[in-house]
Amino acid sequence: MSSEMSYWEGVEKARAQGLIEGEPGKRFKRLYELYSHKSGLNDCNSRVLNPIISKLLRALSVKNDALRILEMGPGAGVAVSQMRHIINDAVIHTMAGATPINPYWQFAEGILDDVTDSYFGDVAAALYRYLSRKKIESSGSFDMSKLTPDNIMFLQTQLERRVFDVVELPYVDYQWCGDFPDENPLKKKSYDFIYENCGPNYHIGGKTNIDVRGRTMELLAEGGMAVLLDVPMKEYNLDGSYVHFSTLNVDFLAHPDNEIAKRMAKLPYGVTRFGIENNFQNVLDDMIAEKAA
Ligand SMILES: C[S@@+](CC[C@H](N)C(=O)[O-])C[C@H]1O[C@@H](n2cnc3c(N)ncnc32)[C@H](O)[C@@H]1O
Repeated sequence: MSSEMSYWEGVEKARAQGLIEGEPGKRFKRLYELYSHKSGLNDCNSRVLNPIISKLLRALSVKNDALRILEMGPGAGVAVSQMRHIINDAVIHTMAGATPINPYWQFAEGILDDVTDSYFGDVAAALYRYLSRKKIESSGSFDMSKLTPDNIMFLQTQLERRVFDVVELPYVDYQWCGDFPDENPLKKKSYDFIYENCGPNYHIGGKTNIDVRGRTMELLAEGGMAVLLDVPMKEYNLDGSYVHFSTLNVDFLAHPDNEIAKRMAKLPYGVTRFGIENNFQNVLDDMIAEKAA
């Protein structure tokens, strides 16, 4: 696809190809608008993967078949871009309540690496930093507070940074848009790895009487695992105002046949829950080393 095509024309092209289905959800319409990268990248829609999660993906991809991944609430597609860089042959699906992603504009590896030193761990912060270092100011051509994919593409030369790579093959294989779990058409028991960072489980879980976590687990394949993260630096109220707080909650939920869970020696039945314990990284390192041997 030519970069002449705008971000949103690329989204329409993918929709016409059947790679995107459904319409942005209505449940928290105002919140979805705030999070949508349509109005710009920000610290809530452009977070990178934590290095431990990247390592976890490498360990999971040790199995021979292509890993089937679902990201719930992908924002602008930063984490899925990274996942595709890590495991090229994975099958990657997303479920979004807000706007779909252009699967032909993948976040470039360089810009993702540059995020590691940013406090919030998001691409938007890294971009703002470059812009201010280069003293690029808002002008008629773009608004610094609204770094939309289209104007970022335009800015790339001035930034001297590749932010997006225009790719021939879609880096996200399928996207469904809508309110999870109300309209969810995704197949049960079909994903080896489910990832969420402040997505539906965070937004709906506990705030309604819907068993969002249970509905998420139904999507997990035998031997699969889910990582549900919420690292809200800001929590939005329904009227759009927000209060600051910082927590880090990580839920690892694994099918009992999941290799990592088995090695973590947890209960051999039902869903296994564990945290980042001392031996967690060792288990991952072992699995990666065994594959390389
Ligand atoms: C705060 S953003 C997080 C984006 C990204 N994971 C990140 O960390 O930068 C929330 C994401 O979850 C999605 N989301 C929230 N509630 C949802 C629901 N009930 N059904 C589907 N998607 C939902 C939003 O559309 C958005 O993609």
